[in-house]
Amino acid sequence: MTQSNLSNTEAIYNRIDKYRDMVTDDPYRLHYHLMPPVGLLNDPNGLVFFKGKYHVFYQWNPFETAHGIKYWGHYISDDLIHWEPAPIALAPDQWYDKDGCYSGSAIVHNGKMYLFYTGNVKDESNNRESYQCMAVSENGISFEKKGPVIHIPEGYTSHFRDPKVFYKDNLWYMVIGAQTIEGNGEVVLYSSPDLENWDFLGPIAGSNKNGLGEFGYMWECPDLFTLHGKDLLIFSPQGLEAEGYRYNNVFQSGYLAGDLDLHGVTFKHGTFDELDRGFDFYAPQTTNDNDGRRILFGWMGNAETCDTPQPTVRNHWIHALTIPRQLEWKDGKLYQRPVEELEQLRENGVNYTGVEFREQEKKLEGVKGTVFELQIAITEWQAESFSVNIGHNNRLIYNQSKKTFTFQRKRFTDDTVEYRHCQLDTLEKIHLFKDSSSIEVFLNNGQEVFSSRVFDEPDTKEITFSVDGTVTADVYRWNLKKVCE
Ligand code: FRU
Repeated sequence: MTQSNLSNTEAIYNRIDKYRDMVTDDPYRLHYHLMPPVGLLNDPNGLVFFKGKYHVFYQWNPFETAHGIKYWGHYISDDLIHWEPAPIALAPDQWYDKDGCYSGSAIVHNGKMYLFYTGNVKDESNNRESYQCMAVSENGISFEKKGPVIHIPEGYTSHFRDPKVFYKDNLWYMVIGAQTIEGNGEVVLYSSPDLENWDFLGPIAGSNKNGLGEFGYMWECPDLFTLHGKDLLIFSPQGLEAEGYRYNNVFQSGYLAGDLDLHGVTFKHGTFDELDRGFDFYAPQTTNDNDGRRILFGWMGNAETCDTPQPTVRNHWIHALTIPRQLEWKDGKLYQRPVEELEQLRENGVNYTGVEFREQEKKLEGVKGTVFELQIAITEWQAESFSVNIGHNNRLIYNQSKKTFTFQRKRFTDDTVEYRHCQLDTLEKIHLFKDSSSIEVFLNNGQEVFSSRVFDEPDTKEITFSVDGTVTADVYRWNLKKVCE
């Protein structure tokens, strides 16, 4: 490292020390979600299981609670629950990444960890250049940069980023998020025998391709894998117009499912399905662990919320990752469930079986709090609507005749409320993770998920249920331990 980059690293650790008390005393600091020690976090990067440990890297601007020049922050865990911060993994200190070490992925080969990321470079006139770069590590903690391995191919703009690498049938493959010079978002495929020399194979999906129609001007953060015999391409398209309840956030994240032919470079796929219906979810990434599980983390944020004043900004930090979710391909759909390790967080459980909710608002003595897990398994339904009201400002509502599930929260900017919805034929189960400033809701064992940040008065513990009709359910509640600082 050069002298100036060394002092930059020092400046970051000084900043962490300087603001540590403000950050950790913030009542909205989350208890079991990964967050930046200071500054802004965005995408999860480089998820990998290496030498018995889980590694999660993240896009990090340590110097501001806004986007800017990005580093790779790093956490390590034995169990996906208890995380140790590791030293900065990648700093923007080379000519090919000087304006940001952008998103990417990790793989393990011959006992070493390899990172692939996008080096973001801007010239004096603010023109962007992107290089797909490689870095290698023996110990999974310090990384040696090897420089660019891919330059932008003909026909594409400099919006060319977020390499995700995987191994299949004796070859390495890489997918990259791209924009054609005509302005179509695409995912392109490369292959390599040795991780250093990469061949451009072509696009596998894109806007105005494979019957998808007009579908965004840029596709970010692609991830391609096979799950239970189905080929799945997750990506985050930019530029979709809202259509009813779909695509309501500024940018979306979702997937195409189908059959991929790596040799013919074709991917026959169906329609795009969003992964999460809440306000704050973007740029997810997955990895496989030793048990063969496909695990996903998302950024529990979105581009628009960077400009809105989240209250944590006054304490010099912003954003978090979602809890880890296990993916399953079932009934033609990706299901997402909280990983079972999260059960380690449970304490002081209470349960009520056969609770009848009827007409008036109801509270259950042991069901309240600010940080908890709640499961509501519905056994009988004779109602028009049922809602769970969390604190003063957040409501989950199922409407039987419209067959819609709604998440309502207070806007960050004023006292009005805002909504996200999804279509849901029946409501069988609500599984909810509340943290000090977030709610993640899994419906019907992961058929639909809503992830959102919420900023109620910090001590608001009240939970009430209201129903138009009668609903009978089994209700379980646990407090959840604090494992993140
Ligand atoms: C997604 C994204 C990526 C990029 C990174 C930069 O949120 O825009 O495409 O690599 O963030 O932080």
